[in-house]
Amino acid sequence: MTQLLDVAGMARWIRRDGAEAILVRMTDYLEADYRRWERFDKTPRIASHTPLGVIELMPTSDGETYSFKYVNGHPSNPSRGFQTVTAFGVLADVDTGYPTFLAEMTLLTALRTAATSALAAKALARPDSRTLALIGAGSQSEFQALACRGVLGIEDLRVFDIDAAAIEKVRRNLEPLGFRVHAATSVDEAVRGADIITTCTADKARNTILRADQVAPGVHLNAIGGDCPGKTELDAAILEGARVVVEFTPQTRIEGEIQQMLADFPVTELWQVLTGAAVGRSSAEEVTVFDSVGFAISDFSALRCARDATDGTDLQSALDLVADPDDPKDLFSLVDVLAPVS
Ligand SMILES: NC(=O)c1ccc[n+]([C@@H]2O[C@H](COP(=O)([O-])OP(=O)(O)OC[C@H]3O[C@@H](n4cnc5c(N)ncnc54)[C@H](O)[C@@H]3O)[C@@H](O)[C@H]2O)c1
Repeated sequence: MTQLLDVAGMARWIRRDGAEAILVRMTDYLEADYRRWERFDKTPRIASHTPLGVIELMPTSDGETYSFKYVNGHPSNPSRGFQTVTAFGVLADVDTGYPTFLAEMTLLTALRTAATSALAAKALARPDSRTLALIGAGSQSEFQALACRGVLGIEDLRVFDIDAAAIEKVRRNLEPLGFRVHAATSVDEAVRGADIITTCTADKARNTILRADQVAPGVHLNAIGGDCPGKTELDAAILEGARVVVEFTPQTRIEGEIQQMLADFPVTELWQVLTGAAVGRSSAEEVTVFDSVGFAISDFSALRCARDATDGTDLQSALDLVADPDDPKDLFSLVDVLAPVS
C-alpha cells in the first residue's frame, strides 16, 4: 500500500506541530539535502505552457528514493476562485520502483518555498536583519513570514500588494501570531528600512516590481514570483549590482530573474554557499539576491519531512494505488472474469 497524506491530513499536521516549528525542521531537511547535492539526479523541470499558466513536472532522485511533483502556476486563477499554485507529489522506492508516499503539495509547496527562502536568507542576509518587506500578499506570504521568524527571528513586517484586501488578510492572519504588521500603500513605503525583501507577486508578465534605486545597500532579496519564461519581478539593474544565488543554474537561466541577463551572467548555486564551496555575502553593503524558481530537491526534502513527521499516525492513510497480485506474473488474476465479483 502507498501511504497518503491528503489535504485534511496535511492541514491537521500543520495545526498539530505548528507551521513555524515545521518550517524550522524543514529548513534542516533542505540544508541536509542541498549539502549532498552531488548525490541527486538533476534536470530542469518539464513545463507545459498555455496562455493562462503552466503545468510542470519536477523529478529528482538520490539513488535510494525518487520523487516528483506535479505543480501548476495560473496567476489569474484567484479572480476565478481558484488557487494560483496547486500541487501533489510522490516519493518512490528506487529498488522496486513502487510509489511509497503520495501527498498533497499545495500547502507543502508553500511550506517548502518559505523554508527554502529562509535557508537562503540565513546564509545570505546580514545577521543583524530585523525587518522583512513582503511585496505580494497572496497564498505564499504568511508562510514566508513564519519561516523568516522561525529561522531568523524577524517579527517586523512591511507588506504591500496591489490588492488592499490581501494586505488586510496578512494582518488578520499574522498579528494574532505576534507579528508587527505595517500595511504599506506603495512598494517604496514597504521597502523603507527593510533588511530583507521578499517579492512573491503573481503575474504572467515581465514586471518591474522593484527598481534598483529602491534597494538599499546590504539588503537581501528573495525573489520568488519570477519563476517562468516571460514572468519576472526585478529590474535587471538590481541583478547587475548584486551577488545572485540560484537553486539549479540550467533551470534558473530559463525561468528565473536571470532570464533577463546574458547566458554567462555569473551566479552561485545555493548548495555551494551552504557547503562553503563559494562565498555568500562578502560585505555588509553587498546586495544579495536569491533568484528562487523552485527546484525538485526542495520538494524531495519537503516530502521526506512531511512523511517522517506523520509516519505511523492517523494523519496518513493507506492508498490502494499499485496493482500488486500475489503472483507477479499473473496481473490478469485481478480482472479474471471467472473470479467472484465482490
Ligand atoms: N519560487 C518558488 O519556489 C515558488 C513557489 C510557489 C509559488 N511561486 C510563485 O510565487 C508567486 C506568488 O504565489 P501565490 O501562491 O502567493 O500567488 P497568489 O496569486 O495567491 O498571490 C499573488 C499576489 O500578488 C499580488 N500582485 C500581483 N501583481 C502585483 C504587483 N504588481 N505588485 C504587488 N502585488 C501584486 C496579487 O494581488 C496577489 O495578492 C507566484 O508568482 C507563484 O508562481 C514561486
